[in-house]
Amino acid sequence: MKIDILTLFPEMFDGFLNTSIIKRAIDNKYVDIKVHNFRDYSLDKHKRVDDYPYGGGAGMVLMCEPIFRAIEDLKTKDTITIMLTPSGKLFNQEMALDLSKKKHIILLCGHYEGFDERIKTIIDMEISIGEYVLTGGEVPAMAITDTITRLIPGVITKESLDSESFTDNLLDYPTYTRPEVFRGMKVPEVLLSGHHKNIENYRKEERIKITKERNDGGDNLE
Ligand code: ADE
Repeated sequence: MKIDILTLFPEMFDGFLNTSIIKRAIDNKYVDIKVHNFRDYSLDKHKRVDDYPYGGGAGMVLMCEPIFRAIEDLKTKDTITIMLTPSGKLFNQEMALDLSKKKHIILLCGHYEGFDERIKTIIDMEISIGEYVLTGGEVPAMAITDTITRLIPGVITKESLDSESFTDNLLDYPTYTRPEVFRGMKVPEVLLSGHHKNIENYRKEERIKITKERNDGGDNLE
């Protein structure tokens, strides 16, 4: 799997790509992630990538030229090109699972007032990571890259993936570690019992209970 990220602020990704599970996934060649500055694709002598909006209004708009050139340079027949915008389709675990099976993804990070509308003609989908407005698409690109990367087989154990939140439409069960009692709060007895079947049942019941509480009556339970 290859992910190309197009941004005006490549330095924002330094820590993200060089830490923890994402770094390990890159080092072990499960994923190849490259960050590109689309300013490098500008034909303008000042490397300009934005301009005033036609019709007036606040802010600047990202221009077609550098973004078309960047995407055309990176795109192959297997590419899914995704634009990050607050008005895109709401990102969720199911979309992440679909995307984790693709060969090549381009993530296009917006800034300023947004993209020239004509850029939408060369992208495959628009994604939003939530109903709020961030200063740009970089944090969404990291959220999506992170979510997809950990779903690539081998990146983390299958056991962790099987039990976690959103698998089977259920949230994760509660976990505890030592000490057995902390400030009067005790670890549930069943987890100390060593009885695997009872532990499994307890965790399943907790997942259903937590999901019900979270979902206003648990509409998405079987
Ligand atoms: N750019 C700004 N806000 C965003 C959001 N919520 N999702 C995706 N891209 C964005």
